[in-house]
Amino acid sequence: MFTNYIKVFQLIAAVILSASVYGQKNDHSSFFPGKLWPDNDGNHINAHGGGILYHNETYYWYGEHKGANSLAEVGVRVYKSKDLINWSNEGVALEVSTDPNSEITIGSVIERPKVIFNKKTKLFVMWFHLELKGQGYAAARTAVATSQSPTGPFKYIQSFRPNQKSWPQNFELSQTQENIEEQHLEWWTAEWHQALVDGLYVRRDFKKGQMSRDMTVFVDDDDTAYHISSSEENQTLHISKLTDDYLGFSKEWVRVQPGGQNEAPAVFKHKETYYMITSGLTGWKPNKARSFKAKSMFGPWEKLANPAKGKNADVTFFSQSTYVLPINRAEGIYIFMGDRWNPKKHSDGRYIWLPLVVKQGQPAMEWQDEWSLDQLKYISDNHKAD
Ligand code: GAL
Repeated sequence: MFTNYIKVFQLIAAVILSASVYGQKNDHSSFFPGKLWPDNDGNHINAHGGGILYHNETYYWYGEHKGANSLAEVGVRVYKSKDLINWSNEGVALEVSTDPNSEITIGSVIERPKVIFNKKTKLFVMWFHLELKGQGYAAARTAVATSQSPTGPFKYIQSFRPNQKSWPQNFELSQTQENIEEQHLEWWTAEWHQALVDGLYVRRDFKKGQMSRDMTVFVDDDDTAYHISSSEENQTLHISKLTDDYLGFSKEWVRVQPGGQNEAPAVFKHKETYYMITSGLTGWKPNKARSFKAKSMFGPWEKLANPAKGKNADVTFFSQSTYVLPINRAEGIYIFMGDRWNPKKHSDGRYIWLPLVVKQGQPAMEWQDEWSLDQLKYISDNHKAD
């Protein structure tokens, strides 16, 4: 009799437990790339072009708040999570300004925010792509803000055209002196392409600082931080070392893939090798991702294959890279984070997060309709790092 009671009790407990597990599964225990991603209040996460900061065993997801169009009307949002799937809305980390004279006034363009933590100053440092109000994408600036707390409020510091009056470390002396003038060249001709590879725009912008559009930041194991951005009319990437406080440019920098037309850079490290994923240049429309590797952040960077594999790999599963999050660096396991933009209604842009594995020196990812962190653990346990 007594054992029967125990059996009934066990049965009830099992039903309750499986119901709660089922409930969780129904809510958020899997990633559903491309589907609406509700935060803990049930609203689709609004953090586009984003990046992740892992701090005190907590993940912070920063991204562009998008309204109907792509101009900044709120600022940079931040969400918090312990498991990367369930996110609480922590509000606006960096708010746009109502002052029309502020560089981050409502109607400016604030894109691809990334936050890093400076161990010396104990400040959270946010970098983002800034375009000034009413100027389209002509200003081509990068900007910095800081906060004492990961959820903000971040205080706007200043914007830059990077590396003013300093030549890249991988420039020849002769390149600093060439004298081909831009107005004599027609865009997209072979002569124009050769001139830009030779440094046409680096020389043009030497005094006022280099252009900086799509960008990211990366902190190395020795705490050196780098700013990586699309420059020279989006034709060439620039990798620049930041100052020790992460608030400015050290003026040590290199050009990467001159004339290679790379945007949307995302950098990560596996063992002693640096990897980078980028996109081509088709605005909000998706294109084929690229990948690169290097033994040093300052290169040389070797071009690898398209990291996307399988169906729709030629359009990166209809997405554009924004960040790569390390999960198990020793084994080469990461999460690729991309944006599936919706220029008709920007707030409805979707997130494409997929497991990314480095195999024989090549990052690779495949489409999944649904996947869980257990799957990532399974891959991690069964993948032999090379
Ligand atoms: C994309 C870029 C986005 C945004 C957009 C504007 O290529 O990656 O961040 O700048 O162009 O058209």
